[in-house]
Amino acid sequence: DSQRSAYIQSIKQLLKVKDAVLVAHYYCDPEIQALAEATGGCVADSLEMARFGNNHPASTLIVAGVRFMGETAKILTPEKTVIMPTLEATCSLDLGCPPDDFSAFCDSHPEHTVVVYANTSAAVKARADWVVTSSIAVDVVDYLDSEGHKILWAPDKHLGAYVAKQTGADMVLWQGACIVHDEFKAKALRELKLQHPDAAVLVHPESPANVIELADAVGSTSQLIAAARDLPQQKLIVATDRGIFYKMQQACPGKEMIEAPTGGNGATCRSCAHCPWMAMNGLVAIEQALLDKTGREVFVDAKVREKALVPLNRMLGFNK
Ligand code: 13P
Ligand code: SF4
Repeated sequence: DSQRSAYIQSIKQLLKVKDAVLVAHYYCDPEIQALAEATGGCVADSLEMARFGNNHPASTLIVAGVRFMGETAKILTPEKTVIMPTLEATCSLDLGCPPDDFSAFCDSHPEHTVVVYANTSAAVKARADWVVTSSIAVDVVDYLDSEGHKILWAPDKHLGAYVAKQTGADMVLWQGACIVHDEFKAKALRELKLQHPDAAVLVHPESPANVIELADAVGSTSQLIAAARDLPQQKLIVATDRGIFYKMQQACPGKEMIEAPTGGNGATCRSCAHCPWMAMNGLVAIEQALLDKTGREVFVDAKVREKALVPLNRMLGFNK
């Protein structure tokens, strides 16, 4: 409608005036992803968002995602102004891993190499040896295992269990979960597969193990989009946040996409799988953030930043 296009025009103008670029995650609403694409920004998974922000020449990054993504951008490029549409956009994995408790957990496993998922606070990253995202978690742990390391993994228990299974590494796991992916149900998915025997099943590894077991492809958001394009099946059942359908449909426009069930008893909930914090990145909030960054700018304590930069740089420098 005309109100929305007025916001879009205003944001386009403000991005130019403020020398800012919009960096959005695949789970943002389609109109935000489209805006990032139309303005020379990026739509990506969490690893590519970090790389893009790190390499882009703009002096201001508008990070449309959740808090840890803004913090990661600030840690990597402290000279840039990093703004988020709202600093309230957090993540259940980050919330479920308070730095003090995590530090005590690390202290109780002094012989373990600490590997944390990117979905954590800067303070938790500061305690880690490695940061990984879901796109490189298996490869990094596989490498560390081959070097004889025992691993302390946090915070996602499902991703941790998946990585342990794939690599055979000796891992102790923090017991966190993503409130979105934890809701996918294996029984209902099995029933849906029976109704669509010709469909391929794509699953993000933050989902429970019995859901991952039913998958034809498991991976980060960008890996799932690539799998959607490359798998021969014309029908796809997708177990991740529904925001992903925007880019998935672009990648393979002819294919039929079905949301994996989040309800029990075989019931599909058509709109359950959407991260409430990602959903906070609306047009109004983005315009506001560009007009007045007060209360929306990301800051990271200098000492925490210095420590967190080490494992983050390991992540960016890791090559299979
Ligand atoms: P990706 O790194 O796969 O984009 O995952 C980020 C995330 O928050 C998944 O819930
Ligand atoms: Fe965190 Fe889950 Fe939301 Fe991703 S989808 S940001 S893991 S709560």
